[in-house]
Amino acid sequence: MKKDVIIACDFPSKKEVMDFLNLFGKEKPYVKIGMELFYAEGPDIVKQIKKKGHKIFLDLKLHDIPNTVERAMRSLSLLDVDMVNLHTLGTVKMMQAALKGLTREDGTRPLLIGVTMLTSINNQELHEELMISGTMDEVVMNYSTLALKAGIDGVVCSPLEAAKVKAACGKSFITVTPGIRFKDSKKDDQSRITTPFEASTIGCDYIVVGRPITQAQDPVAAYARCLYEFVEGKES
Ligand code: C5P
Repeated sequence: MKKDVIIACDFPSKKEVMDFLNLFGKEKPYVKIGMELFYAEGPDIVKQIKKKGHKIFLDLKLHDIPNTVERAMRSLSLLDVDMVNLHTLGTVKMMQAALKGLTREDGTRPLLIGVTMLTSINNQELHEELMISGTMDEVVMNYSTLALKAGIDGVVCSPLEAAKVKAACGKSFITVTPGIRFKDSKKDDQSRITTPFEASTIGCDYIVVGRPITQAQDPVAAYARCLYEFVEGKES
């Protein structure tokens, strides 16, 4: 599978995202559309960005009873996106129902990726609020293994967890990794980070990069730098 850089288009409305994508001219980066934009603009924004020629990761993190997730995934499959996700916490049964709903009549479907434990959750919250007794590492590995068992394509994880996930679930199990920063850029609120080059050497399949590109002085150059480091595997 080809490595790729996915730009997290965390914009509040259609105007901002379209102005941003127009900067790229004929180049059509893979983009991630999240809840903020989707809930503001509806499915139409997905269709419009798709029509411009971009691949789309629709990051809506579904989590509900299996029947509801299956039916929601059926609706998403009709949007012709390339990747969608859900919470692995919904159980193997829910992930399998999602796969069923996502598969179109002709047998094709978008990639289905699982969120293990959100990186915003700390150890104290894991133990005291969620009452999960394992370590964060054990929880991430367990949920990744459940995702593999359910037959979904991979998980979202920190680049620092990706090698362990690959070791436990196999090389072809996809790792989608946010938490990417250039060595000379701000960390913002991300803590477990690597550069695009380091993510490449670890063997991540997709990196998700938001602010280092969207808030750069020159977003097109920042995107090119990500491709250079991650896809070409060269340090900058
Ligand atoms: O701006 P930044 O590069 O930090 O953006 C990362 C993107 O990846 C954001 O859209 C964020 O919501 C998403 N993400 C994350 N950590 C996770 C899951 C998703 O940063 N564990």
